[in-house]
Amino acid sequence: MSDLQQRTSRLPGFFKRPLAERVALVSEWAALDAAEQAILLGASGLGAPQADHMIENAVGIYALPLGIATNFLINGRDYLIPMVIEEPSVVAGVSYAARLIRDGGGFVTSSDEPLMIGQIQVLDVPDVYVAAGQVIGIKEALLAEANCCDLTIVGLGGGARDIQVRPLLETPAGPMLIVHLIYDVRDAMGANTINTACERLAPLIEKATGGRVNLRILSNLADRRTATAECTVPAAALATETLTGAEVVRGIFEAYAFAAADPYRAATHNKGVMNGMDAVCIATGNDWRALEAGAHAYAARGGRYTSLTEWWIDESGDLRGRLKLPVAVGTVGGATRVHPAAKVALKILGVKGSRELAEVLAAVGLAQNLAAIRALATTGIQAGHMRLHARQMAIAAGATGDLIGRVVEAMIAEGAIRLDRAQELVQELGRTL
Ligand code: MEV
Repeated sequence: MSDLQQRTSRLPGFFKRPLAERVALVSEWAALDAAEQAILLGASGLGAPQADHMIENAVGIYALPLGIATNFLINGRDYLIPMVIEEPSVVAGVSYAARLIRDGGGFVTSSDEPLMIGQIQVLDVPDVYVAAGQVIGIKEALLAEANCCDLTIVGLGGGARDIQVRPLLETPAGPMLIVHLIYDVRDAMGANTINTACERLAPLIEKATGGRVNLRILSNLADRRTATAECTVPAAALATETLTGAEVVRGIFEAYAFAAADPYRAATHNKGVMNGMDAVCIATGNDWRALEAGAHAYAARGGRYTSLTEWWIDESGDLRGRLKLPVAVGTVGGATRVHPAAKVALKILGVKGSRELAEVLAAVGLAQNLAAIRALATTGIQAGHMRLHARQMAIAAGATGDLIGRVVEAMIAEGAIRLDRAQELVQELGRTL
């Protein structure tokens, strides 16, 4: 029976297979047709004419590698994870971490209802508390009006859920009232829906308060729409040639503690989390700037910027981890269904809706963080990075086939990983092939 007949994402040696075999395997996994395979291979897909409809002043398109992370077991289900990223080591690292987590039973994830927050800024009211009461007084009318702006989402069970008021007494522009519209956007990311709803509510709020509305826009601190991933890694799975599992667990815990206590480290630690999450976000046609904004604002929610992940050692000495953060992503709307490669990526992922996608993203973020801090707490990340860097240099210098590996090994042995040296080695070793 093939790996895929068993429907497992545990695919040992996937990275060693030629690209064409990987495409065939993923195509079998996701039942991709020839047209979809052509999109993966860059033979078709987003073209300049389509790009011209997506943004202004388009003059072309810009391609990035699309990789597949393996080994993900989330809530008992196997996933192959499409990732779009230019940085080497990310896909390999997250796949390795997912394998370690698989040894502990895989990820357990959960998520909130897809509730987005829209903000309406009300100024020029004599008393912000009185204005707040006036807004609450027309709450039902506001919810009804907000529901008029996206009948599709309302038809699918989404829609306006609540109105909240937040007086801000001390701002550089004086007191103001901020009105929050809480809106269930179902499987959409929801930016358009929530922005439209906020714009519709503004005249009603002005009428009720006698004030003036300025901004009407969603908040990227989507803290009503969080996703959580948790995992256990058996200490034994973390042992290396030179370190016991318990030593590695301790090192990872200490790495987390550093990020928890120090914003300088937390920024880099969280960058590692986002390496993975952004890559899936981009692959699925989602807005990774929104994801980034929400994640970093959430990391500072206590008044001090800190680690997005938590790691601790359980009573058995095993490593436990958790990541909880806002994840505002969709599986319908925006580029998710317009960008040909995003559609293929969503098919490979096989998620049913935005909450499942958000949970997958949280699992990827947790695994990516584990990959980084495990490497940092053991061998350091440069060993793996330099090998991949050397490979890129070799290819840039014109090496192909077997010559790539020989140029890489020679540069690593010499400790000289530079384009000029790669070019010399391509000449020298190429002659002896
Ligand atoms: C590099 O892209 C990401 C890391 O710096 C993350 C980290 O330091 O935790 C390796």
